[in-house]
Amino acid sequence: MVLQGLRSPPASKQPHTETGFTQGGKQAGMTTIIPGSTSQALAAAVADECGSTLTVPTYRRFSDGETLASIPEFDDSEAVIVASTATNDAHIELLQLQDAAREAGAETITTVIPYLGYARQDKAFKQGQPISVRAMAKAISTGTDRVLLVEPHEPAVTEFFSVPAEPIEAAGLLTGPLEVLAEPLFVAPDEGAIELATTARNAYGEGTVDYFEKQRDYDTGEVELTPSDAPVEGRDVVVVDDIIATGGTMSGAISVLNERGAARVYALCVHPVLAESALTKLSAAGVERVVGTDTLETAVSDVSVAPAVASKLAA
Ligand code: R5P
Repeated sequence: MVLQGLRSPPASKQPHTETGFTQGGKQAGMTTIIPGSTSQALAAAVADECGSTLTVPTYRRFSDGETLASIPEFDDSEAVIVASTATNDAHIELLQLQDAAREAGAETITTVIPYLGYARQDKAFKQGQPISVRAMAKAISTGTDRVLLVEPHEPAVTEFFSVPAEPIEAAGLLTGPLEVLAEPLFVAPDEGAIELATTARNAYGEGTVDYFEKQRDYDTGEVELTPSDAPVEGRDVVVVDDIIATGGTMSGAISVLNERGAARVYALCVHPVLAESALTKLSAAGVERVVGTDTLETAVSDVSVAPAVASKLAA
């Protein structure tokens, strides 16, 4: 990590490379990494991976509720903002950081969004509803030249951006912390997560893949799961999803699998939103271990997406 003001010689005197990124190296310095307040550890890890300068923003809240994110001056021509948008405030903060980077003279701005909030409202599910993620994408596009999204809820969400936008895959990283599994079965708690479960199985190197049917009541948020009849007795089962939010989907799957005699049930997710009592629900359902990534910095963020982000930035 190179903190602003501590680098030597100054970035503007460093040899110019085409992108300014040298993954794993420390000599670059043409790029300033700007962290959003919810992505501080990940931004630092990305700066480390890229050998880039990590700047230190200040985040303020006024008595009327408005917020102000500011950054120190920097010389680099490229800025990379790393900011998850899990909350409304984080969305505003991201727009401010983009504007501040442009104001500071950045010629090129890349916006890395480890967790893109509102991605699940990617259609109007009922008359009168917005396509929320499209509205967010439009706003974000105005302040950047490129967008990178870590495992967005649907890859097609990239089409809502008016600047080049690409997904970064992370599901394959999730099996790293798993121990040796007995006759592993990788389960998607709904059809939408089959690809993630397959990627996780492939990364683990053995096992079979299965999925549950899921119905969600869009008024109450309640989920109803219809399990398949795959045999689970005595097997280690790994449930893989992109997001654990309220924990309703994941805890429902874990309960069914435990009732059916699974040996151990693991919960893997890219984005551990963990709203309300999600972790407690998973524990009560009998989960062996929950593994998430640092797209959101939580107690279960055991896997870092920093190398994957750095590699995409360097590409
Ligand atoms: C939905 O399609 C997502 O992939 C997740 O299954 C969902 O967001 C999880 O939400 P919750 O934890 O609230 O059930």
